[in-house]
Amino acid sequence: MKILIATTNQGKLKEFKRLLKDLDIEVLSLKDMNNTFEVEEDRPTFIENAIKKAKEYGDFYKLPVIAEDAGLEIEALGGFPGVYSARFFALSTFGGEEPVQDNKDRANILKVLRLLENQENRKARFVSNVVFYNPENSTEEEIDKGFGLWSEGYCYGEITTQPYGEEGFGYDPIFKPEGYDKTMAQLTPEEKNKISHRGKAVRKLIKNLSKLLS
Ligand code: IMP
Repeated sequence: MKILIATTNQGKLKEFKRLLKDLDIEVLSLKDMNNTFEVEEDRPTFIENAIKKAKEYGDFYKLPVIAEDAGLEIEALGGFPGVYSARFFALSTFGGEEPVQDNKDRANILKVLRLLENQENRKARFVSNVVFYNPENSTEEEIDKGFGLWSEGYCYGEITTQPYGEEGFGYDPIFKPEGYDKTMAQLTPEEKNKISHRGKAVRKLIKNLSKLLS
C-alpha cells in the first residue's frame, strides 16, 4: 500500500518517515509527486485544516493520504500562534510583523520571544491533529464524524528565554518539554518522537490504521 504524506515541510516529513518505518507501506511525499500546488490552511481549527489537506491531495493524486496540521499554543498569548504557527511572523494583527532575516522559523521564534519578554507564565503546548483519508472509501462526512481515521497528540512544556539546539524544526529551539532541562531541538530525533505531539498522534493513528488494514 502506498501512502502520501501531505507536507512540504522536510522536518515534519523526516519525523513521519521514522514514525511509520515499521509499517508495510510505501511512504510518498509531495516532493515525490512533483507537486506544484499548495492547499491553503485557512480554517479556524487544526482538524479542519488537516481534513482539508487530506481531501484535496487525496482526491487530486488518487492516493491514500496522511495529513497533519500542527502548531504551538502559548497560554499567556491566549493560545496564539495556534493555527497561525507557520506564518506567525507575518501576522500583523497579532503582535505586529517580524522581519525575516535568516528564515521563517527564526522570525517566528524571535516574535514569540519578543511577545513573552518579561512574561513569567511561559506555559505552552504543541498540538498535532493527524488525518488518514482514502479517496476510495472514506467520505468527508465520515471523517467529520470521527468515523474516518484521525487522532490528536499534545506535548506540554514551556518557552525558554532564548533558543537552544540545532535538531528538529520550527519552534523546537525555544520549547522545553515538561520534565526535561533541554529544548526539543537538543533532543535526538528518537527522543523527540517518543514524547512529541506528532509521535503521540501518529502512534494512535497507526493502531487504528492497522485494525482497518487487517
Ligand atoms: P503545519 O502543520 O505544516 O501548518 O505547520 C505548523 C507550524 O507549527 C510549523 O511550521 C512549525 O512552525 C510549527 N510546528 C509544528 N510542529 C512542530 C514541531 O514538532 N516542532 C516545532 N514546531 C512545530
